[in-house]
Amino acid sequence: MTLHNDIERVLYSEKEILAGIDRVAAELTRTYQGRDFTVVSILKGSCVFASDLIRRIPIPLELAFLAASSYGEGTTSGELEINFFPSGNEIEGRNLLLVDDILDTGRTLHGIKGELMKRGAREVRSCVFLDKPARRTVPLTADFRCFEVENLFVVGYGLDYAGRYRNLPYVGALKSEIFAPSHRAGASG
Ligand code: XMP
Repeated sequence: MTLHNDIERVLYSEKEILAGIDRVAAELTRTYQGRDFTVVSILKGSCVFASDLIRRIPIPLELAFLAASSYGEGTTSGELEINFFPSGNEIEGRNLLLVDDILDTGRTLHGIKGELMKRGAREVRSCVFLDKPARRTVPLTADFRCFEVENLFVVGYGLDYAGRYRNLPYVGALKSEIFAPSHRAGASG
């Protein structure tokens, strides 16, 4: 048995993902040409996306990390917790590009953006791998996004369910039996 057995269907293959990232990386390269900026990868979910994305942006950038979790249990949205911030000099006066795995209700990016502006960032923009507009509760639009997804809980390419599936190289929907109460342990970041 492997993780692949738990997947009902693949939404974005590895090849499609990399083509989408190429497109967004080209947009980012045009936008930030001649300007200093820092990519802030939101852990844990965006680490796979961020590492593919930055290697396709051939202009100077810096990299920082921030850890947040918004899923208390299973697949339902919980309170936002920011567990780890970049240092003060990585934030103050900087142009920050927040990179996240998925924009869902919008609470995570909205909360993080507000916190970074409060801590003195010059500008905060956002770039998401997936955008799920059907579930938005906060009026927030990503400045850059690779793909729009339907209202489904998805895993793979950094996205987890109960801490697993981040290492799948594609994005897929889980089989419904995986969501049975006996499987629930809580997902994060
Ligand atoms: P919000 O609702 O704050 O959510 O925009 C952003 C965070 O919630 C997690 N999330 C998901 N994780 N599959 C996942 O594995 C999903 O379909 C999903 N929807 C939201 C994710 O951690 C994201 O950063």
